Amino acid sequence: MNREQAISRITELTKELSRHNYNYYVLDNPEISDYDFDMLLKELESLEAEFDYFLPDSPARRVGGEPIKEFQQVQHRIPMLSLSNTYSKEELIDFDTRVRKLTEDEFDYTCELKYDGSAISLQYKNGLLDKAVTRGDGKTGDDVTSNIKTIGSVPLKLFGGDWPAEFEIRGEVLMPYSSFNALNKEREEAGESPFANPRNAASGSLKLQDPSVVAKRRLQCLLYAFSAERHPVSTHHETLRKAREWGFNVPPYIARCKNMDEVFTFIDEWDQARSELDFATDGVVIKVNQYAVQEELGFTAKSPRWAVAYKFKAEQAQSKLLSIDFQVGRTGAVTPVANLEAVSLAGTTVKRASLHNEDIIKNLDIRIGDTVLVEKGGEIIPKIVGVEMNLRQEDAKEFHFIDSCPECGTKLQRNEGESAWFCPNAYHCPPQIKGGIIHFISRKAMNIEGLGEEKVEWLYDEGLIKNVADLYDLTYDQLHGLQRDLSDDGVTSRIISIQEKSANNIIKGIEDSKNIPFARVLFGLGIRHIGETVAQKLAEAAGNMDALRQMNQLELMLIDDVGDKIADSLLAWFEDESNIEMLERLKEAGLQMQAVQAEKKGDQLAGKSFVVSGVFTNHTRDEIKALIKAHGGKVGSSISSKTDYVLAGENMGPAKLAKAEELGVSIISEEEFEGMIAEF
Ligand code: IVH
Repeated sequence: MNREQAISRITELTKELSRHNYNYYVLDNPEISDYDFDMLLKELESLEAEFDYFLPDSPARRVGGEPIKEFQQVQHRIPMLSLSNTYSKEELIDFDTRVRKLTEDEFDYTCELKYDGSAISLQYKNGLLDKAVTRGDGKTGDDVTSNIKTIGSVPLKLFGGDWPAEFEIRGEVLMPYSSFNALNKEREEAGESPFANPRNAASGSLKLQDPSVVAKRRLQCLLYAFSAERHPVSTHHETLRKAREWGFNVPPYIARCKNMDEVFTFIDEWDQARSELDFATDGVVIKVNQYAVQEELGFTAKSPRWAVAYKFKAEQAQSKLLSIDFQVGRTGAVTPVANLEAVSLAGTTVKRASLHNEDIIKNLDIRIGDTVLVEKGGEIIPKIVGVEMNLRQEDAKEFHFIDSCPECGTKLQRNEGESAWFCPNAYHCPPQIKGGIIHFISRKAMNIEGLGEEKVEWLYDEGLIKNVADLYDLTYDQLHGLQRDLSDDGVTSRIISIQEKSANNIIKGIEDSKNIPFARVLFGLGIRHIGETVAQKLAEAAGNMDALRQMNQLELMLIDDVGDKIADSLLAWFEDESNIEMLERLKEAGLQMQAVQAEKKGDQLAGKSFVVSGVFTNHTRDEIKALIKAHGGKVGSSISSKTDYVLAGENMGPAKLAKAEELGVSIISEEEFEGMIAEF
């Protein structure tokens, strides 16, 4: 094949594959098998490689480019607003009445489903996808084009030619339930925490830095709003039909309704039928169809006056309450959890549900053996919201809340005015110990990369770590090849293990944590009431761990921000022998137990006040702040008329920039700052 022939074949394949994509994703009516599709795609890939030629909409290049370090911020040409919500049909009638008062023109409505995902704006120029931007704060969002391109149903090049040269189309990125369930299963097997719902999974996926990972997430993009300087046709309904012809994935679940009765019929049908869809919908959106009337009605500050969202009630199902377990959380709170007969609800199989707390069980008079109503909100674990009293059997058993901790046996406590029982054995109750270790490794404390919540639980359950000091005795050999069987039936096996790379990461993360400053070590210990700021104050005042340990209540209370609650908590912690032993081991391991005084380097910045914002090239933000202080300057957190300089790195927020400009504060770069502190 010569070059000319190759280019012609590449052009042909690009076009053909785009059409198959459309048939598959939008029309849900593929003409060829997946296998044949893959063969054509392979042919295209190898021709593109051999002749170093490809078209901008090449379907072989949906996944490409380097991982993105930081997404570019893009300002929305038209802000991405929200919709006003209603929960009843009466409110919808009010909406209709309001609209009819505001216009004398004839109009009708378009009803669509409200897709429960992550909003996206797609921008097209001359028929080619130019940019995809997330909603962000409604005014500016992240440029996630390379991630969006991996979604097969997003057209890279439009069909036809009657589209405006520049326009924007908005929609929702969703993760279908089938992909969501598969992804969560994979995550659990890899020892990662599952996503709470498909919406979080979709928005989390869009923020991934590596498009090749996004490509595996099997996202969907459904479109619902078009905007351009001039609309090619006069109604929303007609535009959606056109958009579909141009190749966009506009869902077929749309109806044109003349009046509220027709709107209600649409709502009732979909309230039933939505459970059969493979993606989450949480309501129906009702839009005035005629653009001219939309314009007449306009917008409030938050939402259009020509549209409204009717929200479905959360999906519920009935099931039988088999037994109740008690779970102790990482903070010591004890939650009753219901074991249920398996029931299918909102795309997943439910076997367990939260019973919240003792009062709710009593108020609802829930008994074991009862038929209960389960509801799925945004949380990962569904909740029980009621009992079918008319189905109660005679042998339904009342049950009593436990009085001692199921994990460690300590007598439970309940504070006045609070609804939860908790286990007060904070430092020795297993789930609370795990919670403590998870806090210790967290980003704001010791920042041990490579270890996460699930790995900590795993290592604890294996008996490899019993407290944070044990982390520093872990060896590569202990970690590498460590296996866990995740099967829940004890018959099939689903083994996962720690691979070489992961074991190395953990060891390196632990080693690196030895450089974390004393204040963060102190914060990491998870002593009750000692947050980040207090830890900082304590570290500065005491200077080192031994001195802190010697302080009495009065001395402690003389420190800024320290009251009796904090002082007592600290004293009690130091009184516990096992804590002292652990501290000794941490010290032995080489952790920082001494505050490093900021060394005075000069006073070039004396009397000057700085606000530091954004990301820098030569220093971290903390280093910059330390440098300012070391040269006699002050660091503030918000820009005011007292600020002398705003030190702006990359990606500084536009609001801050505007504020600085408004107050006439000088904005300087990292380089200019380096110049200010340079020695002469
Ligand atoms: S139209 C001016 N149509 O719901 C707002 N929005 O609460 C026009 N959504 O931001 C939005 N399905 O993220 C519209 N069929 C649909 C929708 C929909 C889901 C989302 C969208 C919007 C939010 C409003």
